[in-house]
Amino acid sequence: MSGDLSPIDKAKFVAAKRSVDYVEDGMRVGLGTGSTAAWMVRCLGELVRDEGLKIKGVPTSTRTAELAREVGIEVVSLDEAKWLDVTIDGADEFDGNLNLIKGGGGALLQEKIVATASDQMVVIADIGKEVETLGNFPLPVEVIPFGWQTTKSLIEEMLVSMDVLGRDATLRMNGERPFVTDEGNYILDLHLGRIGNANQMAMVLNQMPGVVENGLFIDICDVVILGYGDGRVETRDINEGTVQEDRLDFVESDNLFTDLGD
Ligand code: 5RP
Repeated sequence: MSGDLSPIDKAKFVAAKRSVDYVEDGMRVGLGTGSTAAWMVRCLGELVRDEGLKIKGVPTSTRTAELAREVGIEVVSLDEAKWLDVTIDGADEFDGNLNLIKGGGGALLQEKIVATASDQMVVIADIGKEVETLGNFPLPVEVIPFGWQTTKSLIEEMLVSMDVLGRDATLRMNGERPFVTDEGNYILDLHLGRIGNANQMAMVLNQMPGVVENGLFIDICDVVILGYGDGRVETRDINEGTVQEDRLDFVESDNLFTDLGD
């Protein structure tokens, strides 16, 4: 059944499969959001069911919470868990310093809170997510619905003095209506092309009234696990300064490969 997967899905799957090696019995685990993270949740669920792995999962969205429960992972809130051993999540972009853009799935706020409350953040991605400079992927910024158009204008004005290529901000939509996050907020996607100084951008955005959080994850990620469509996996650890390569075989598993979807 894995033969039906596209190369990109295979890449996501092998990265996810490798990432669960970071999870040990008794750990409190942050569960990311998105299609790659969904593979990871399924892989963890398989270990819980088949090998008796005991973990507590803290999901970063209602979508992930539903999937985690469905596959048999015990779900607790961040306040119950207090601190996490590891968070495993996807990303929209990462650079050579393992700084990230996240929030393509609209869960950046919970994702950042959960990742920051973890001893280690492991990002799982396919090769298409690697960039030299962040910013080609539109930067998601979560804003309060009240006065969002004013917040958008203020952000666009602020961008004039920043080292970026583009300055358009668009309200993320869900059909005819604004997309609403799990916290009841809106998302502005900033089409910047290139972010010359991501650290400065992250700090300036978060000082603006109306902005709740931005999708730049600076100095949060410790490890990126990069999957390839042919089963190769590359693990880059920024703290250890190591890069490891190996290969995973696709093992048929009805539990994992049925009922696909994010
Ligand atoms: C959700 C995210 C996701 O991790 C990011 O969008 C990557 O998603 P995918 O694994 O589907 O490519 O930040 O808010």
